[in-house]
Amino acid sequence: MLKGKNIILGVTASIAAYKAATLVRCLVKEGATVKVIMTPYGKEFISPVTLATLSKNTVLSDFFKHDDGAWNSHVDLGIWADVMLIAPTTANTMAKMAHGICDNLLLTTYLSAKCPIVHAPAMDLDMFRHPATLRNMEILKSYGDTFIEPSSGELASGLYGKGRMEEPEIITKKLIEFFDSKKKILSNRKILITAGPTYEKLDPVRFIGNFSSGKMGYAIAEELAEQGADVVLISGPTSMQIQHSNIQRIDVVSAEEMYQAACDVFPDCDGAVMSAAVADFTPVNPEEMKVKRGKENYSVELKPTRDIAAELGGMKKAGQLLVGFALETNNEQTNALLKLQKKNLDFIVLNSLNDEGAGFQHDTNKISIVKGEGDILSFDLKPKKEVAKDIVREISSFYQS
Ligand code: CTP
Repeated sequence: MLKGKNIILGVTASIAAYKAATLVRCLVKEGATVKVIMTPYGKEFISPVTLATLSKNTVLSDFFKHDDGAWNSHVDLGIWADVMLIAPTTANTMAKMAHGICDNLLLTTYLSAKCPIVHAPAMDLDMFRHPATLRNMEILKSYGDTFIEPSSGELASGLYGKGRMEEPEIITKKLIEFFDSKKKILSNRKILITAGPTYEKLDPVRFIGNFSSGKMGYAIAEELAEQGADVVLISGPTSMQIQHSNIQRIDVVSAEEMYQAACDVFPDCDGAVMSAAVADFTPVNPEEMKVKRGKENYSVELKPTRDIAAELGGMKKAGQLLVGFALETNNEQTNALLKLQKKNLDFIVLNSLNDEGAGFQHDTNKISIVKGEGDILSFDLKPKKEVAKDIVREISSFYQS
């Protein structure tokens, strides 16, 4: 359940440090790789040898190794970890973390960590309910840290109250839940998206194009990637930029190039979103040389391009999703329904040029999602980023049904 997860376990100076041995065992048993960092006084409460043996990793405590001077890089540790769990966290360590003090390796690692931080505090009940401790907890929460609150019971002091570090089995369970809640809804899904216009060459300097900016398609690509999908963005010529580790961008120019790229990629995908404004016609014989002025009349013979969405609709296998777009000027719903059937789409995103603020070039859009006769979801005019969320929500629910 924690397979593949890298966990830094910070152990500070509390009697509850003895529970760190069981905690390491539980985490390792769940498949995690655990590296322990101890504060100097933490080592007085449990032997580093015990934790090194159970974690199968050297326990770190100093900034460098005393025998050869090798540097223990807190920055590297912070980058390596998927989560930093401090169990037990003492009032002292909490206070230092809240105020950016970094006079030991655990604290410097905390300050440079890029991963989520989870604390399991342990202390005497009066220390725990002291306003200074409560305020420090609030400060740490404001940094985004989460807390596994201590339980109530008999404390090392002999007093009864809240301050016992939660049991290792419960901390492990909470960490598993924490990672499960972070799982993204489209993780392990590969989705192809076409976006932008296509340019059909007339001569070396001219083309037939359209007004598509690519904004809607790029917003959907970004939202799909945010939700964990591996995205292959096949883009026509546009000035749009996109940078996301989950997005692979393939640039094309013409409808034919977009067709070839989409047909190559689709068999390997869980779905495709056809948001590109693909030219329906292309010149039969583009000129080799620039066409000069001075002709009385100039006509160009055009032939239909191949319909990418319809082609993918024909290739589509069970479980693969195909989403189309329709930008209409009249009989919007009837035309959208016809395209839905003709192209074997699962749903079609309809926008009408009659709606103010919808369609090409705008930063906003007003859409309906058409799934079938009478099965239509209509949305308000929104920024394209918000529209992308509505569309991606619909895509996600396809995979959950
Ligand atoms: N489409 C496509 N390949 C084409 C033309 C369109 O993949 N050669 C896709 C579009 O990306 C969109 C859907 O088909 O998802 C509908 O496009 P649209 O231009 O509205 O419809 P057309 O089939 O081209 O019909 P028309 O232009 O006559 O309305």
